[in-house]
Amino acid sequence: MKDIARQQMSIKVESMDMLNAQIQMEGRASASYLAMASWCDQRGYNQSAGFMYKQAAEEREHMMKIFKFVNDCGGNAISPAIESTNHDFSSLEEVFETALSQEIDVTKSINRIVAAAKKNSDFGVENFLQWFITEQLEEEKTMRDILDLFEIMGRDGIALKLIDERISVE
Ligand code: FEO
Repeated sequence: MKDIARQQMSIKVESMDMLNAQIQMEGRASASYLAMASWCDQRGYNQSAGFMYKQAAEEREHMMKIFKFVNDCGGNAISPAIESTNHDFSSLEEVFETALSQEIDVTKSINRIVAAAKKNSDFGVENFLQWFITEQLEEEKTMRDILDLFEIMGRDGIALKLIDERISVE
C-alpha cells in the first residue's frame, strides 16, 4: 500500500526537482549565515552575531519545512551537500549586503517554483509556497532596514558599534 502511495505523488516531478534544489539553497543559506555569525562573533559585533545565528537556524527550519513537504507528498527529499562557504568579509556592511543579496536570490528562486507550479496546475505546491513568499518579503525588508543604518549613522568605529547595538535578535 505504501509503495502504491509513493508511485502516486501528489506533486509534479518538475516541482519535486525544483523543491529539492530549493532544499539545497536553504541549506546553503543556513551555512552562509553561520559563517557570517562567526565573522561577527570574532569581531565583537555581538548583536549581529546573535542575529546571524538566529538566521542560520531559521534557514535550516525553511529547509526542513520543504524537505518534509516533499516526503509528505510521496516524493523523495534529498539531503543536500553543502560545499565550501565564504567566511571572508571586508566589513560589517558587506556582511549585511551579502545577506540581502542571498535573500534576493532565494526570493527569485521561490518565485520561479511558484511560476512553474502555476503553469503545471500544481496547486498544492503553489499553496505551500505562499508562506515562503511572505517570509521572503519580511527577510528582504529586515536586511534593507539594517543596511539603511549604515547610510544614516556612518561607518566609523563608533557608528558600527551603535549599529550593532541596534540589531534585534528577537
Ligand atoms: Fe529561507 Fe531567507 O531564505
